[in-house]
Amino acid sequence: MAEAQDKQDAQDPQAGQDAQDKPIKQRKNGLYPAVSDELAAVMKSGWADTERTGLQPLPQASYAAARRAALSARFPGERIVVPAGNLRTRSNDTEYPFRASTEYVHLTGDQTQDAVLVLEPLAGGGHEATAYLLPRSNRENGEFWLDGQGELWVGRRNSLTEAEQLLGLPCKDVRKAADELREATGPVRVVRGHDAGIEAALTDKVTAERDAELKTFLSELRLIKDEFEVGELQKACDSTARGFEDVVKVLDRAEATSERYIEGTFFLRARVEGNDVGYGSICAAGPHATTLHWVRNDGPVRSGDLLLLDAGVETDSLYTADVTRTLPISGTFTPLQRTVYDAVYEAQQAGIQAVKPGAAYRDFHEAAQRVLAEKLVEWGLVEGPVERVLELALQRRWTLHGTGHMLGLDVHDCAQARTEAYVDCTLEPGMVLTVEPGLYFQADDLTVPEEYRGIGVRIEDDILVTEDGNRNLSAGLPRTSGDVEAWMAALRS
Ligand code: GLY
Ligand code: MN
Ligand code: MN
Repeated sequence: MAEAQDKQDAQDPQAGQDAQDKPIKQRKNGLYPAVSDELAAVMKSGWADTERTGLQPLPQASYAAARRAALSARFPGERIVVPAGNLRTRSNDTEYPFRASTEYVHLTGDQTQDAVLVLEPLAGGGHEATAYLLPRSNRENGEFWLDGQGELWVGRRNSLTEAEQLLGLPCKDVRKAADELREATGPVRVVRGHDAGIEAALTDKVTAERDAELKTFLSELRLIKDEFEVGELQKACDSTARGFEDVVKVLDRAEATSERYIEGTFFLRARVEGNDVGYGSICAAGPHATTLHWVRNDGPVRSGDLLLLDAGVETDSLYTADVTRTLPISGTFTPLQRTVYDAVYEAQQAGIQAVKPGAAYRDFHEAAQRVLAEKLVEWGLVEGPVERVLELALQRRWTLHGTGHMLGLDVHDCAQARTEAYVDCTLEPGMVLTVEPGLYFQADDLTVPEEYRGIGVRIEDDILVTEDGNRNLSAGLPRTSGDVEAWMAALRS
């Protein structure tokens, strides 16, 4: 690692100029003398031509084109700018892993950093879409081996010609994009929050309100998943199921270490079969299960307790699953754990049955909440009648969160959609949502008998609305208490 200490970014005005006369950001190599003219000359030549030809379009290219057509129709005569986003520095020359913006990925299928999609309005109507991308590194000026983002350091990029074949749309050098956008006239909207440089170039031309309308439209454009997206979400769920199996097989090692062993085990599956986890895995053993977003995952794993595992693999195309199972670490539920688990299962069943075309989006939440309220009244934890509990939402002390959300490229997908298009919508075929009721008895909740305290149960599945009902994309994992026990026993035998 001695070499790594030398790789500190330094803005060096002497470092050279790329084809667009922008300074290259040279890595400082303290152990080496300055680059001699002879070395610079040697590094320019002797490299094979690796240009690829005859590339097939990405499988999602035609779907992305259809989405761009919808965007074009919604904003006639306006220039639309959709950045992928930039690297974020963690420290010095170390960056956080890059994940392209959801809007950009949805509209292009591409995932490269610094990229920008521009829809340019055409005089005769419609738009021409162009992907502005980082091209291959310049070898003439040394960028490819001296720049911190040069290909010699970070890997080969697609040439613009290769990218055109893969994405099915014209590609240009992104280093020209800000200047071109600054000089362009006419109405323009940009998706904010991803690329400060591009936003700065447009600052005099855009308004927050109009840009918010664009973001809302793109969020709503993702409400109905096409065939490609459903296939990717199925892959995400299938990989996730394998990740849950991996975890069950190593629960003894987690008991010997901590929740981190579970997190690491699931992450291995996510990285091998997909791109990443779609959100921070919640590996919550014992009373941690009552903390909704327990991602510290640093607690003990003890036989006799429950493990609430909420985790999802994100595919290489960036679609994520969002699945929760609550497992008895010993392999067998205690009687009270089973009672609570079975109640949540019953609520989830009621919720899933309410997912069908023509139903109100809220129906699945209300169906699940009714079951949970009934159970809480039956157990004497809240005073009935059930209608009063529901009207005052008193069950929420223990159910805490909404029963689900849209799922897709983002775990909480379509989050900028308008209320009327999302929570007040009618379900349509192609929507994918989670159904995830839970009951959570906090360790310090004095309103419930002591034996309930520290029990948290959630069951979460990813449900596709079909023409005649729904399909559970995460049905590869067991859900009933008996099936969970049998599945765990088989995996550990
Ligand atoms: N994993 C976060 C959620 O279930 O919404
Ligand atoms: Mn969820
Ligand atoms: Mn979840």
